[in-house]
Amino acid sequence: MNPCLPGRYADSSFTALERGVLAWLDGFYQLEHLLNTRAWVIELCQGQGSEALRFAALSHDAERFFPGGPTGTPANGFDDPDYLFAHSTRSADIVEEWMAGQGTDETFRRQVRRLILRHEIGGGWEADILQAADALSFLEVLDWLAVEWVQRGIYTIEGAKEKLCWSMERIRPPLALHRALPLFEAATRALDAAFETRTDFAARREQVSSRAFLTQTAQGPQQG
Ligand SMILES: [Fe+2]
Repeated sequence: MNPCLPGRYADSSFTALERGVLAWLDGFYQLEHLLNTRAWVIELCQGQGSEALRFAALSHDAERFFPGGPTGTPANGFDDPDYLFAHSTRSADIVEEWMAGQGTDETFRRQVRRLILRHEIGGGWEADILQAADALSFLEVLDWLAVEWVQRGIYTIEGAKEKLCWSMERIRPPLALHRALPLFEAATRALDAAFETRTDFAARREQVSSRAFLTQTAQGPQQG
């Protein structure tokens, strides 16, 4: 597992709305995952992605930050449509409501909503990019979560590997698949060593939830 580096996501290209969403979701344990998904979207699009796509990447899992969402059970596997559709719909609703409160225009909100609704299943060029970026980001920066699942007995090593396999299988863009292979191998190795790993998961969770830690610059944290 790679360490989480302070300031890795400092980026002068954040829009005001993106800075706002980072402030809104500050403290969410998937904040690094969201920032990393946005970074993958930018790389996979090679300059062609829309502002709505970058914003959807940065907010697509927002609902998990707010209590009352759907819960999956290990027995249902990672590809459980009941869970995935409920999760995607709740995220789209929550993000759309937040965006409306920021005075964004309706066309933009609609674009973001459609992408978030499709982030688990893809469909269309931008939704396929978002889905692939989400999968790449899980493999790259949420491998510690899969190791934690194993150490806590939520999944066996083989069970957690199914999440990695499912992440790989759903990637469609060839460039993304190419980028995913080494990440898949590294995440698999991390799971194989799950019981030998001595990670302070509480400290890791704190770092990857912190907007200040993740986006700080030499001048200090980027402000919302
Ligand atoms: Fe995600």
